Amino acid sequence: MGLISGLLEPKSIKIDTIITDFEPIRKYAMNDTTHPASSDATTHFGFNTVAESEKEAKVAEVFHSVAKKYDIMNDVMSGGLHRIWKMFTINRVAPRPGMKILDLASGTADLAIAFAKKVGDSGQVWATDINESMLRVGRDRLIDKGVLAPVALANAEHLPFPDNYFDVVTVAFGLRNMTHKDKALKEMLRVLRPGGRVFVLEFSKVAPPLQKAYDFYSFNILPKMGQFIANDSASYQYLAESIRMHPDQETLKAIMVDAGFDFVQYHNMTAGLVALHEGVKL
Ligand SMILES: C[S@@+](CC[C@H](N)C(=O)[O-])C[C@H]1O[C@@H](n2cnc3c(N)ncnc32)[C@H](O)[C@@H]1O
Repeated sequence: MGLISGLLEPKSIKIDTIITDFEPIRKYAMNDTTHPASSDATTHFGFNTVAESEKEAKVAEVFHSVAKKYDIMNDVMSGGLHRIWKMFTINRVAPRPGMKILDLASGTADLAIAFAKKVGDSGQVWATDINESMLRVGRDRLIDKGVLAPVALANAEHLPFPDNYFDVVTVAFGLRNMTHKDKALKEMLRVLRPGGRVFVLEFSKVAPPLQKAYDFYSFNILPKMGQFIANDSASYQYLAESIRMHPDQETLKAIMVDAGFDFVQYHNMTAGLVALHEGVKL
């Protein structure tokens, strides 16, 4: 991606604010005013039940807190495995020159960097996230890798992109944190062109023989690592809890089918610790 394509804007995208940095982070209307949250609806934040209206702010707190140490923590806590899970995802996406790819919940932009290198000047890769602290790290990493891709603050539940725009939409370890997964999936469907594909990489249900050891690691070791490396055990306790609350492989597949995707399938990795779900918009 060159400088020029990095500055392209699809015509119907409306910019609210541009932060004047070298490569601007574009900011869009982040709230869905057409579907106001009902005041008594609840959801989960880890193992706690919270008002739907509270979850977004609580998730934001987690990622503001961990942003600077996010990459090192990812490597340490997964023993580097997240790189292999992402490599598999990139191979399934098979980015080619000219493709338009939207990476949601892009965070520190691992996927966006890999895609941008493949789609070339004729393609577009948008790195987007709801959280500015995470996206600033992602934006800086894109620049450090010599890639000027558009970087946009955007809520996946309320995307600022036109219908039928992208060839591929990806979300890695982000769906779990969204308040309304169904709404986010419907938005992904909307912005995909017919024939376009969605990829959801997410923690899932590990094979039963590994469950005990995985629970011990998640609830006893992970928060301590978080305290030691990122000075924040609570965020890593949330990570462990949010994984347990996330739909398992078959349930997520059904949610994706309900959202309107066809040919939904998934690939388990590391004994189901993580799964990559894919679907097609017909
Ligand atoms: C665990 S990080 C994943 C980052 C990156 N995709 C990766 O795989 O390393 C989860 C990201 O989801 C983002 N997120 C949470 N809710 C979101 C939403 N509604 N819309 C967009 N991003 C969201 C968070 O801000 C955070 O950066």
